[in-house]
Amino acid sequence: MLSSFGKQIKSVKYTGLASLLLFVLSITGCSIKQPRQVAIASAHPLATQAGFEILQQGGNVYDAAVAVSAALAVVEPSGSGLGGGGFWLLHRESDDLDIMIDGREKAPLAAHKDMFLNAQGEPNKQLSLNGMLAAGIPGMPAGLVHLSEKYGNLPLATSLQPAIRYAEQGFPIGTRHQKLLSFRRNILEQHSETADIFLANGQLPAKNSLLKQADLAQTLKQLAEKGQAGFYQGSVAHKLVNAVQQEGGLWTLEDLLKYQIVERQPVSGSYQGIKITSASLPSSGGIVLIEALNILENTDLEAVDDITRKHLIVEAMRRAYHDRALYLGDTDFIDVPVERLINKHYAQGLSSTIRTDKTLPKEYLTGHTQEEQGGRNTTHFSIIDNEGNRVAATLSINFPFGAGLVASGTGVLLNNEMDDFASAKNSANGYGLVGGDANAIAPEKRMLSSMTPTFVQDNERIAVLGTPGGSRIISMVLLATLDFAAGNSPESWVKVKRFHHQYIPNHILYEKQGLSTEEIISLQSLGHHLKQTYNYGNMQAVQLNKSTNTLSAASDHRGEGLAKIQQINE
Ligand code: GLY
Repeated sequence: MLSSFGKQIKSVKYTGLASLLLFVLSITGCSIKQPRQVAIASAHPLATQAGFEILQQGGNVYDAAVAVSAALAVVEPSGSGLGGGGFWLLHRESDDLDIMIDGREKAPLAAHKDMFLNAQGEPNKQLSLNGMLAAGIPGMPAGLVHLSEKYGNLPLATSLQPAIRYAEQGFPIGTRHQKLLSFRRNILEQHSETADIFLANGQLPAKNSLLKQADLAQTLKQLAEKGQAGFYQGSVAHKLVNAVQQEGGLWTLEDLLKYQIVERQPVSGSYQGIKITSASLPSSGGIVLIEALNILENTDLEAVDDITRKHLIVEAMRRAYHDRALYLGDTDFIDVPVERLINKHYAQGLSSTIRTDKTLPKEYLTGHTQEEQGGRNTTHFSIIDNEGNRVAATLSINFPFGAGLVASGTGVLLNNEMDDFASAKNSANGYGLVGGDANAIAPEKRMLSSMTPTFVQDNERIAVLGTPGGSRIISMVLLATLDFAAGNSPESWVKVKRFHHQYIPNHILYEKQGLSTEEIISLQSLGHHLKQTYNYGNMQAVQLNKSTNTLSAASDHRGEGLAKIQQINE
């Protein structure tokens, strides 16, 4: 039987009679069309179900991706939304197309390099994180329209139906939503319309209470009816601009009218014969991931003890994240030496600076130290069908509940993605990441991202994966990719104990129980500083094993998502 199972891990195999039948048909030269199956893993069960609802109506994986993206914007408003942006990495099997839809937010036309600096020239974090100045021009609605119109089978209005229904009828909120509300409550309660939507008479709503978003449903309907013009022009655009300007923001109608997604070539690389396809600039994700893997390819991670293995991975992370701060930004505005950064010989040079008996001193490369703050943010989902068509999408409004403000009358929570720019040279953003001129603010520029929607494949297996988690997204995808290389399953990738180093701040951040006492002592003896943090990330992963025709899927146990495999009736 091919159907759905419980929460985390699902796999479906053709066995017994079915396999025998396929074998007989293949040796007799006959072929039969295999039943269509799809695996979806997302951060919310209702979003995963929205994807299957649309597939059952004749949608393809791209229609399902529209449905899942829009549903997440409603049922996981802490992570992504129409007021935010993101990257959809697509593969289409019929013409072997790999493409990335860049729906990243852009700085408004009136933005300028020093807009978040105070009189002393220091960045004012309140301005780049909370309130209307923090919001970039959203890319998510334009991304949904493009994905549906160019790659889908169904009308956008059909694929948006589950999201509209969830917004109108409401859905029961879970513990994760409550926790993130509590984290951002002091911002959300400052704006009465935002508080009316997300709080219950100023208090945290009870678990399982219904969250209805009537204005958001109307905005989704405008998008369904009019496409891009339904959000970026007309009544919704006027309401957005009025709301932003009333609160001191810079948006104009021209900003919205001018917003366009860009189709970009993903970055690709390899690790021990495994092919990596991942997000290109303006996300740093793919470049940093491939650079770190290239560095690690110069050592045999399977041949060393576990402490040395972790030390080597940390040293690779440090070098790749350091290059992120030095070179990466929006290539529509600056030249970036991408080919060099993902070149294997360049990585060989960096690898030659790694010693196994001690860590590289922080002074080796210059930088500015600041403690990271960080929070759980963003969302990711992965979809694959048994033909290999697939979508990896990482979507964001940046910090939980973005800038903490809903634009009046629209239900749209504004993002605080402007914080992903480097406000002042070498100042750290909310995740402690530093950046220089490459990522300085400029009108219409896209802020550098860490989102890392990724495909990983060898001769047998195709994996689709990604996660939220700010600057730690890239190191989480790196650890999962290494686990794929070790031959493990999606269940294992999402469970990997996480540790992270981004060069600055100069410490290894690790999850509770992520490192043993022995490992901590040994890493300290190599000169590392270590800092424990909460369990982070919410990885969503799916896999097609081509040789066994098996789909599998896993949703991170740290979150409340749903991974599911289902046969689609045709
Ligand atoms: N908002 C998180 C990122 O783009 O990296």
